[in-house]
Amino acid sequence: MASSSTFYTFALLTLNSILQVYGTGCPVVECWFVQEKPGRGGFPAAMNQERSLLYVRTSLDSGEAQSQQKPPADIDPTRIYQVTDPSASLCSSTFHSPEGSVKKPQCEINPFLPQPSTVKWAAPLTSSAQSPIYLQADWFSASLLGLDGQLALSSVMRSAKATNEPNVILNVFSTSTSVRSRLGVPVVLDCGFWMESTSPLSELGFAVEWRYQFRGAGRLVVAYDAKSDRLAETSEEGAELDISALHQTRNASLLLQEAQVRHTGTYICSVYLPYLLAQVAIDLEIEEPPSLSISPSPLPISFPGQTISIQCDATGFAPLTLELSWEFVGADGKVQTLGQGGMSGHRQASDGTFSQNSRLTLDLGKLDLGRGGEITCVAIHPGGHRRTSTTLSIIGVGGPSIEDSMAMVAVALGLYGLIKLCSWMFSTPVPTDSDSKEKKDK
Ligand SMILES: *[C@@H]1O[C@H](CO)[C@@H](O)[C@H](O)[C@H]1NC(C)=O
Repeated sequence: MASSSTFYTFALLTLNSILQVYGTGCPVVECWFVQEKPGRGGFPAAMNQERSLLYVRTSLDSGEAQSQQKPPADIDPTRIYQVTDPSASLCSSTFHSPEGSVKKPQCEINPFLPQPSTVKWAAPLTSSAQSPIYLQADWFSASLLGLDGQLALSSVMRSAKATNEPNVILNVFSTSTSVRSRLGVPVVLDCGFWMESTSPLSELGFAVEWRYQFRGAGRLVVAYDAKSDRLAETSEEGAELDISALHQTRNASLLLQEAQVRHTGTYICSVYLPYLLAQVAIDLEIEEPPSLSISPSPLPISFPGQTISIQCDATGFAPLTLELSWEFVGADGKVQTLGQGGMSGHRQASDGTFSQNSRLTLDLGKLDLGRGGEITCVAIHPGGHRRTSTTLSIIGVGGPSIEDSMAMVAVALGLYGLIKLCSWMFSTPVPTDSDSKEKKDK
């Protein structure tokens, strides 16, 4: 039985590949078929993972589904699927790994169990009657993440029992699954969907839900039930769906009016059809670089041998990933690094942004900073690098001033000598011959 169906599949595949050599467009998607292995006592024992292939076509009559190549022998033919996706989302080249590429798109396909939705805003979709006979089929869900990590697709497919020819019924996708934003600007979290309009399920309506998740905590951001045209009550402010776009173009993007630190986290866009659910996750990171200031400003004029202390304050940044360091550029243009200074602990403001400072102690007796130069505080932060500088002037060292003081010393010595000479000449007796005689005798 198994071998005959295997033979049948292979024969079909071969036939198809002969018939459809002209097939273009949709790449073959390499996938993992993942299924829970039933364990003892009804508990799943482990996950079972098998290689799988999805041949994709955009309509039943189009010959695009087949690859010209034979399927690899190490793939179980029952894990090879002929998928029909009229929306062509599965055809995106980002789900196809180029020959010899190290980076691979991700794809996982699982058996899917249609069930009435339990969430409040989607419950009306399945409120009527018993589950339709239409549900009696093989259902699969597939989740894909493109090569660039940006395009994510989640698909629910229906296949007449044991045919391995699933049709996509619901696709939910996002073209940017990793979003970074500065503070205070509007943010769009992209999510769109497609549903098979000929499916009896689509006639019953749909619902869209956005949830927020961060470090284990979650909350509902916004939810909309298209069947009754109602938004769920939520406590979230400044987050909205464009309802008309939702109906017209199936654009389920979430709009955050003004990015705040508390918005950092994972957003899950879920689309419900009666008994079906598909979702994609989008990570949002609010990244705001610090504002820097150096104090005291301006720096007091310093002397060689003095120890001075300078502080660099970094404020208003998020996330809390900051490196501060110091640099010195002398009059000769030479750059010296002065290290990190002493980093303080951090404080968090009510808007969620952080502040932190670094204190630099400079012993001008040990460091040779010449006559001074530019002292710069350098901040390295995921939101961007920032620098700020101040001028350090050291007096009493270096070039002309040394010459000046030497000249002054010379003048002073000269004067001293002259005075001494005069005093010798007028206030002391002129040395006698006997004096010189004594010296000679010695
Ligand atoms: C969906 O709507 C958002 C916000 O209105 C917009 O920025 C985005 O481009 C739309 N996406 C598509 C695919 O039209």
